[in-house]
Amino acid sequence: KEESTLSITVVGASGDLAKKKIFPALFALFYEDWLPENFTVFGYARTKLNDEELRNMISGTLTCRVNQRFSTLPDLSFPIPHDLNADTREHLQGKLPHTAKPSYLKNFELPIEAVLHMYSCGTRNENRLHFNLLAGKVSNRLFYLSIPPNIFVDVVRSVSLRASSLNGWTRVIVEKPFGRDSESSGELTRCLKQYLTEDQIFRIDHYLGKELVENLSVLRFSNLVFEPLWSRDYIRNVQLIFSEDFGTEGRGGYFDNYGIIRDIMQNHLLQILALFAMETPVSLDAEDVRNEKVKVLRSMKPLKLGDVIVGQYKGHSKSGKSYPAYTDDPTVPKGSLTPTFAAAALFINNARWDGVPFLMKAGKALHTRRAEVRVQFRHVPGNLYKRNFGTDLDMATNELVLRVQPDEAIYLRINNKVPGLGMRLDRSDLNLLYSARYPREIPDAYERLLLDAIAGERRLFIRSDELDAAWALFTPMLKELEEKKIVPELYPHGSRGPVGAHYLAAKYNVRWGDLG
Ligand code: BG6
Repeated sequence: KEESTLSITVVGASGDLAKKKIFPALFALFYEDWLPENFTVFGYARTKLNDEELRNMISGTLTCRVNQRFSTLPDLSFPIPHDLNADTREHLQGKLPHTAKPSYLKNFELPIEAVLHMYSCGTRNENRLHFNLLAGKVSNRLFYLSIPPNIFVDVVRSVSLRASSLNGWTRVIVEKPFGRDSESSGELTRCLKQYLTEDQIFRIDHYLGKELVENLSVLRFSNLVFEPLWSRDYIRNVQLIFSEDFGTEGRGGYFDNYGIIRDIMQNHLLQILALFAMETPVSLDAEDVRNEKVKVLRSMKPLKLGDVIVGQYKGHSKSGKSYPAYTDDPTVPKGSLTPTFAAAALFINNARWDGVPFLMKAGKALHTRRAEVRVQFRHVPGNLYKRNFGTDLDMATNELVLRVQPDEAIYLRINNKVPGLGMRLDRSDLNLLYSARYPREIPDAYERLLLDAIAGERRLFIRSDELDAAWALFTPMLKELEEKKIVPELYPHGSRGPVGAHYLAAKYNVRWGDLG
């Protein structure tokens, strides 16, 4: 812990992201004692709220992992789980009323009272920011811009003008969308760089803060058994899959302007791909890692329309319940062609990956919520047990799966002899299920990323050349898609998505692993 003081200003404090992610993450960091001794959180919003209202709004979503776990216990009056660390136990024993009921517990955020006095929430109703509050009092300033990109630059201007006369550091976290294409993204970068250096800009992609995504490099680079197989010689294809079992639900206004390709593929899935495919970096230093990632992105061929299929969910009723279509969302224009589902095939033009399809699939309102990376290995040459697999040799290939969420896990599908006197093989999993192996709850991605921003660790943030390379891959295809007004294939809300995704995969001799 440093001695210096830190102020964290959330701009857009009454927004959804602030409520659901940023404040809870800050709270969890505070609760787990990761924040510096002297810190203050400021909220800034256009919505008129007094301190009290903002605090109330925030407190409804604050949770801490200990309490989340507690809320599953039948009764609050102890026992405290024995795997808590000693401090937390003591803390809880001292503070928790014996009489508390489970219903109370649900909303019972133990240290809220303790923390809320720290949320000195200055909210204003005008667009311009004044940071007189911060002058002289604090040395380090972190701004979190949880606002639409069209006001990024104005906000950054006032932040930087004020900050330039102060000591300590100023860092600014920005959230996507970083433009809609290469041009608008480039323009945004240019504008931001009038006021901030690249080192001060922390472009967030929260998927990089997810535990399993961070572990990808550990898996590859610190286990002898994987890295030697990590190439076209052994890997047949790689699949990056994102699905959500809910639709846009009120976010249609934002979403309709971007669509699933910009919302998920161009950033979250592509970032995972880059980490997956990069060469060994010189070190774990941020610049070394990002240099390798950008090389992967620049080695890829820009997508063509034929490499992509798009879909949009339509209304559906099941067991007496009806689920709305995307275009039923009142914030979505009627007749919108915006894709809520897409599948794409990408290729990396380098010695390691030449010819290996990297297939992406992302969709909203599908049958399940899941994010995973699936690595399908090649067939065993001259497999002695070939006849045990009938005609479907694909069933005999190994598959490594990193399940990012939910139920974080890493598992390896292997062929195994079914015990018994016959010779029957089946596919079994060597399964590392996080909840079984690591019972402690996994921190939210925003906790990791906020902590890194405070520490000045840039490895998990997107550098501007990475962003440019990412847009260069997707922009021509997106333009064509929109100019030609390609009509998305409709799929029922809650289904497995459009059949077009299968045809796309079949074109490259691939079967989606998540469909069995
Ligand atoms: C965001 C997208 O970046 O990620 C959302 O804008 C999406 O559309 C969300 O729902 C998914 O994040 P997570 O962490 O819930 O998988």
